Amino acid sequence: MTQPNQRTAQAFDALAGDYDDAYHDRIARALVAFVAPAPAESVADVACGTGAVALAVAAVRAAHPGGAPVLALDLSPGMVAAGRARAARLAPAGAIDWRVAPALPLPVADAGLDVVLCASSLHFLGRPALADWLRVLRPGGRVGFTLPLTVGFHPGGAFAELLATDLALPDTAADAAALAQASGFTAAAARTVTVGARTVALVRARKPTQPPAQPQPPAAGAVTRS
Ligand SMILES: C[S@@+](CC[C@H](N)C(=O)[O-])C[C@H]1O[C@@H](n2cnc3c(N)ncnc32)[C@H](O)[C@@H]1O
Repeated sequence: MTQPNQRTAQAFDALAGDYDDAYHDRIARALVAFVAPAPAESVADVACGTGAVALAVAAVRAAHPGGAPVLALDLSPGMVAAGRARAARLAPAGAIDWRVAPALPLPVADAGLDVVLCASSLHFLGRPALADWLRVLRPGGRVGFTLPLTVGFHPGGAFAELLATDLALPDTAADAAALAQASGFTAAAARTVTVGARTVALVRARKPTQPPAQPQPPAAGAVTRS
């Protein structure tokens, strides 16, 4: 594991016993409702922590058994262990495929997923995560993520140092949608959700069905103006 990943895993391992599941479950349920993955779609919960998103998807799917398990992946063994314990109480057996692993790159084949979800974590992963999600989504597949708005976001001590430096937090939901659009997604939409004193942006967007058009070289003999 790289050193930054080791620091992140240690910080979240230390937090796992006191993690604010009630807050994160509310954000995750709002994200899952906003993206609305269909029961048959393959879904990943990236940087799943204690599994807020995976559990929200499993809850919706409880009425539609038989689909593929939600892939739930995180660097922190402590967070994943807490997630497994929650799932044993809250989700049907086999509904979630837990993995302790880095999110970059995801251990998924190109175009191998219908839906990528990521709650409260993209600001740790940074922009390369958006590029990797484009890789693993099938054409037309969907992404959903949340990011805290700058207003009211004050990460403490060790956590501030873990934040990605290549990704500015959004001031508004429109800023968060623009981040998806600028990263190559299309049809981006966003809204905010406020839980207690904190407001986050929920974003959903699609991977284009066609690769971006490449600029064509001028045809032989074409007249160019300078
Ligand atoms: C604030 S928690 C959010 C967890 C969960 N998604 C939720 O909504 O409660 C951030 C999570 O990102 C994970 N994380 C950060 N960087 C990661 C990376 N490079 N690969 C995998 N997980 C990562 C941390 O271990 C932590 O569990």
